[in-house]
Amino acid sequence: MILIEVFISTFMRSRGLKVKKDMGEKTRLELIAKGFLDRSKKILSDNEHVFLPLKNSAASEMTREYGDIIYMEFESFKHHPKSYRDLLDLQPELMELLPTSFDIIGEICIIKLPEALLEYSASIGKAIIETRRSLRSVALDRGVKGDFRIRDLQVIAGEDQLETIHVENNLRFKLDPSKVYFSPRLATERRRIAEKIDGGRVLDMFAGVGPFSLTCARYGKPDEIIGLDLNPYCIEYFNTNIRLNSAEDTVTAFLGDAKEAPLGMGPFNTIIMNLPHGSIDFLDTALEVIDDGSIFLYSIVKKNDVMSTIDDIVKLTRDCGKEVVISSMREVHEYSPDMSMMAFDMEVRASPSPTKHHHDPQSG
Ligand SMILES: C[S@@+](CC[C@H](N)C(=O)[O-])C[C@H]1O[C@@H](n2cnc3c(N)ncnc32)[C@H](O)[C@@H]1O
Repeated sequence: MILIEVFISTFMRSRGLKVKKDMGEKTRLELIAKGFLDRSKKILSDNEHVFLPLKNSAASEMTREYGDIIYMEFESFKHHPKSYRDLLDLQPELMELLPTSFDIIGEICIIKLPEALLEYSASIGKAIIETRRSLRSVALDRGVKGDFRIRDLQVIAGEDQLETIHVENNLRFKLDPSKVYFSPRLATERRRIAEKIDGGRVLDMFAGVGPFSLTCARYGKPDEIIGLDLNPYCIEYFNTNIRLNSAEDTVTAFLGDAKEAPLGMGPFNTIIMNLPHGSIDFLDTALEVIDDGSIFLYSIVKKNDVMSTIDDIVKLTRDCGKEVVISSMREVHEYSPDMSMMAFDMEVRASPSPTKHHHDPQSG
């Protein structure tokens, strides 16, 4: 029994630094600056000395210059760590590379890591799960690929099964982020569009698992919504989500190509075009099937060259036989340091003045 207690108390001891009390604060600040202080444990003191807990990674030869290395029982703070970073013990230069944000889709966390942190991905994933109890898995995002815009995900902690239910704007979306595209960053944007819809037929050209369609059904006043996608997994989840959110009366999901499929489905009064790397290529189809109404188009553009995207839109709309005005444009979120995801709102009128689009053979 005594032996076990001795073993436990030795086992619980960890490395620290003993310094004279008048040097305590200065040393504490220097250890923090070097990333050597273990801030998950409490600092101790007696009448003459302060005992500072050290991280495992704090090299003894570098800390010895401040005082004596000792082994003692440092009590851990009982509070829940605020950030997953508090649970990690990496070299200071690696700690600086840790991401400050990540996406959460239902019970799944999706994180991007720089090359230098890849070998620590398992500990990083574990630390994230420990600080966020609602999470079931952490997956490393190795990029979005192909026409379906699917993320290449590698589970680094938790369950190796990524189907989940994401709640957004009080709606429920079932999906597996390794099979379908879904961005949790568009919640406000979806609500913004939904609240503009006042009657008429809506076409969601790149519907995914249905977040725009179902937000419009819940928060707008559409007569009917048709959502299209080319990825069969999207349509499977979209149909499930229509049922989950009781939208069967308003929303229909179709498996099809947004270039051709809408041609027999029009006319529409609102068209949502959320294929940010390629929406503009489908603008001709949208203009063909829209009646009087609005097009909400998303595009990833160079921050210093938004004008070229506007030029592209203007060129495509010039000869469509309808009046098209870009009524507003704004950044939805940053895509990369030099690229933005932008929203272009367009108003379309089906009956322009007859002279407006008259083709003059002299002008070529
Ligand atoms: C960026 S995602 C947007 C999904 C959804 N609107 C959202 O907000 O989560 C684009 C979607 O377009 C689909 N897609 C790509 N090319 C398509 C095409 N030619 N016709 C229909 N859907 C297409 C992809 O499968 C993907 O689900």
